[in-house]
Formats: sequence, C-alpha cells, structure tokens
Amino acid sequence: MAQLWGGRFTKETDKLVYNFNASISFDQKFYEQDIRGSKAHVTMLAKQGILTEKERDEIIKGLEGILKDVREGTLEITSEYEDIHSFVEASLIDRIGDAGKKLHTGRSRNDQVALDMKLYVRDELDGIDEEVKKLLLALHKIMEEHVHTYMPGFTHLQKAQPVTLSHHIGAYFEMFRRDRGRLCDIRKRMNTCPLGAGALAGTTYPLDRAYTAEILGFDEPTRNSMDSVSDRDYVIELLSALSTIMMHLSRFSEEIILWNSNEYRFVEIDDAYSTGSSIMPQKKNPDIAELVRGKTGRVYGALMSILTTMKGIPLAYNKDMQEDKELTFDAIDTVKGCLALFTGMVSTMQFRTENMEASAKNGFTNATDAADYLVNHGVPFRDAHGIVGRLVLTCLEKGISLDELSLEEYKAISPVFEEDIYEAISMRTCVEKRITWGAPGPEVMEQVIAENKKYIEK
Ligand code: ARG
Repeated sequence: MAQLWGGRFTKETDKLVYNFNASISFDQKFYEQDIRGSKAHVTMLAKQGILTEKERDEIIKGLEGILKDVREGTLEITSEYEDIHSFVEASLIDRIGDAGKKLHTGRSRNDQVALDMKLYVRDELDGIDEEVKKLLLALHKIMEEHVHTYMPGFTHLQKAQPVTLSHHIGAYFEMFRRDRGRLCDIRKRMNTCPLGAGALAGTTYPLDRAYTAEILGFDEPTRNSMDSVSDRDYVIELLSALSTIMMHLSRFSEEIILWNSNEYRFVEIDDAYSTGSSIMPQKKNPDIAELVRGKTGRVYGALMSILTTMKGIPLAYNKDMQEDKELTFDAIDTVKGCLALFTGMVSTMQFRTENMEASAKNGFTNATDAADYLVNHGVPFRDAHGIVGRLVLTCLEKGISLDELSLEEYKAISPVFEEDIYEAISMRTCVEKRITWGAPGPEVMEQVIAENKKYIEK
C-alpha cells in the first residue's frame, strides 16, 4: 500500500478499506491524460516562478519517461498504489528524487481528477464522433444506390405506403446526424479547464489558470472552483448522448433482425457477420444485431447510475464521484465497439430488393393512392376512403391485390374509375409522385442525398 497521505494517522489503513477505496484498477485507463495534465501544470508553475526551469525540465523529462515505459509495458501500473495520480507521483519521485516532490504544488487530486476525466471524455468524444461519421458514410452509400428500390413503409408494423430503401435508410441517417450534433454540443460546453481549482477553494499560489487551460486546448479556465471539482454534468450529458446513439442502433438492429428473418427476407447478413447454431445445422443467426440491441441496456444503466450517484452530493468534492469512471469507461467502449461492428454489418449486408418490392405490392400499400385518384376526379376524400375500403375487402375475399382487380370490378363499386387507375396505383407512381420536401420521391431524395454529402464532407 503506497499512498500520498498518512502523516496524521496513527494506524495503518485496514486492508479491506484500502481496497474498497482504491481506484487504480480502473483509473489507470487515463494515465496518458494524467501525465498530460501534470506536464501542463509544471510548465505553468515554472512560468509563474513557482518552480525553477531546471525543476520543470527534470519533472517533464521524468513524466515523459514514465509515459514511454507504461506505453511500452516496461513499467507496470500495480495495485500497490491507491490511484493513478499516486502511481505517477510516486514513480516520478522514484526516478528523479526531490524535484518530483514538487509536482503537486498548488494542486489537489480533486482538480487533478476533474481534469483527467475531462481530458479523457474529450478525447473519446472525438473518437466516437469518428465512428458515427463512418456509419453515416456507409448509410450514405446505400442511400445513393437505392433511390429506386421500392419497399413497404410500415406503421404499427403493418404495411402502410410504399417508400424506397433509400428513404428508409435516410431516416437513420437523420438520427445519427443528430447524434453527432449532440456530441459536438457537449464538447463545446464541457471545454473549460478545472485545473487550479485546488481541493475546492483555489490556491494561494499565483497560478496562471488561463495559461494551463490554453496549453491543454481548453477554451478557458472554469469560473468557480467549487463547481470545478464537483461538476460531472458533462459525464451525464455524454452518457445521455451515448444512450440515444444506442437507442438508434437498437431500433435499427431490430429492423435488420426482422428483415433478415425467414419471413421477411429483405436482407441477407453477410456470413462474416453471422453466427451458427451448435445443434441446428441450417441456422444463420443475426447475433451481432442482437448483441447491439442487448448492450443498449448497459449503456442506459450507466446513465441511470451516475444520475443517481450525483443527486444527493453536497458541494464540493465527495468520494461518491469516483463512481463516475467504471461505468462511463464501459459505456464508451461499448458504444465504440457497437458502432464499428454495426457499420461493418450494414456495409456488407445484401439487400434482396425483389422481395422488398414484392412485399410492397402485396400489402395494399397503394390504397391511399387509389383514394387520391378518386379525389382527383372530384370525389370527396371521406367517400373515396370508403370506396377503396370496399375494394380492399373484395381483394381480400379473392386473395388478390388492387392492381389485379378488373376494370369492371372497379366500376361496380365506383363508375369514376377508368383504365388509367392501373397506372395511378403502380408502385412507381405511388413513390415517384411523392415529391414534397422530405418525401421518398427520387427527385427530392436526390437533393437530400446531395445535401447529406456536403454535410459529411464538411
Ligand atoms: N480517485 C479519486 C476519484 O476518482 C481521485 C480524487 C481523490 N480525492 C480525494 N480527496 N480523495 O474521484
């Protein structure tokens, strides 16, 4: 047990207490950020004359050596230390002696951990954004290729009106685009530097907090030292944004699982992204989509957990906040993994466009268009609705679709129908006439796709 405190204690810490309190098993994840923060801190201390230039150089050289050795695996982070901060400081003192003991001047682990977590989250936000962007590129490609691929659009999971595959995928494009917007908002709002807040009340050393903030790429230092050490809002915002990403991935997974089923057969997931059964030789299961759907729960769990942890904490720092790490790290890794696998799965998936089109034809998805035909010939919409309802009933009795009814059968229900009804209710007309902004008509779809392209390239 190597700890940074102990002077005022007369007894050794109980072993169980030590283990319960320690965070090194998980906060070692941000050793890079911890060292980056310490380098900025001593650079500022030297500029302010609090450390000599020689001390600064020795400390920075020592820290860089630790970083290199940990990266290369020649220096092991062990549970002998309470947390990553203690490990780095103790290793530094081991290596450079007395100068190392000055590293923590004008700093507390409270502002240090607040900084490390922010740096870590900020780095990860950039990485997650990259993954969402890759998914958008994959969706964009599918959209470009399937502007004329007809499929049923559903409401209540009942066939409703025909759309195109491009349009359906486009809905997910919008969701993930908003997700990127959320990540970007969070990054902007959280980009203030807590270092220099000390334990809670700042310090009496003449720190230049704006300088440290600048070195570390923050927009400015935080404005209230008590808030600085106890703010975890950005973690909550991150987990909320990650939960939303997972919710989108999960809905999409659910559709892919349905589409890949023997009943739908709209898609075929590539062999490389499917798994087999140990007993049923014929099986090819969509396990990746199911796992993505399943892992959504643990990301939501992380959000609920930190919300609950934070709700009763008085100002300023309290040890409860140490609980922000494990679940957040897990949520970040989960989301990054799910995004990468999901992108691989959708970009290798085969679309069985003939089945999609046949399905759209066989579910009366053109019934609204048949009613619109009557409206265009002067029949009030409510009457038209009733007439087509009766036509559908006739079709259901005969087990045929609307375009298989004869003109006589149409006319028997309403004399307004003429030969051109067949053209009016063809899949092509149904889709291609829907050209209001945001609708599936190819003309307008191409414009949206062009805008999407500009957005991704920006
Ligand atoms: N491991 C702690 C955390 O994650 C670091 C800060 C400890 N500060 C303290 N005063 N005990 O929050």
